Amino acid sequence: MKDYDKSHINYKEHWNKVYSSDDMTSLGWYEDIPKPSLDLIAKCGLTKEAKILDVGSGATTLIDNLIQQGYKNIIALDISAIALDKLKSRLSKENSEFIQWVVDDITNPQKLDFSLKVDLWHDRTVLHFLTDENRQAGYLSTLMKIVKKGGYVIIAVFSLEGAKKCSGLDVVNYDHKMISEFLGNDFELIKYLDHLYINPSGGKRPYVYTLFRRESI
Ligand SMILES: C[S@@+](CC[C@H](N)C(=O)[O-])C[C@H]1O[C@@H](n2cnc3c(N)ncnc32)[C@H](O)[C@@H]1O
Repeated sequence: MKDYDKSHINYKEHWNKVYSSDDMTSLGWYEDIPKPSLDLIAKCGLTKEAKILDVGSGATTLIDNLIQQGYKNIIALDISAIALDKLKSRLSKENSEFIQWVVDDITNPQKLDFSLKVDLWHDRTVLHFLTDENRQAGYLSTLMKIVKKGGYVIIAVFSLEGAKKCSGLDVVNYDHKMISEFLGNDFELIKYLDHLYINPSGGKRPYVYTLFRRESI
């Protein structure tokens, strides 16, 4: 697996260290209820059997919420095994059965099963960490291979007014047009919204949330 880009940061090590802390609720992106994501997912009108890939899950409460809503085919993917272990340890054995756990780098996946063909790709704050063109291209290539025709893509990242760093790493700031351009003509923008997230230390973090649908043919 490729762990480095031109910045020589080992991302796997970085994120494992971040998630080694005990308190997941003090992370700068923690949400009690991930409302903007849940609202956009509801808009997709998916069946409870739909395959949902959450890219860069970390220890997100989105997974608990999706299980609670009855979704049964969830793939939680993260570069950090420690993050996914934290998430796993929160769930009952019964609820864990609705989740496939994949420790992988979305920009160059080695374990992700491309035959899955997912109905929904959900990413809250992975894309903005990809400051390197090669890693951006790797992300897009994975997305194109795994999102089924007619499937949905939700991407939430720091907006143009947003912070320039997150977790000590540089980020790329986006608006909905830039994300649309990044995904290309195959994807129709269905909805976008600006969301002011207040992090656990009280800091303001403006996000842009986008929902796209892939062409069905
Ligand atoms: C800021 S956290 C957000 C976590 C989660 N999406 C949430 O909203 O709570 C970013 C997450 O992306 C993961 N990540 C970063 N780069 C990644 C990559 N190339 N492939 C997979 N996961 C990645 C990190 O380990 C971390 O869990």
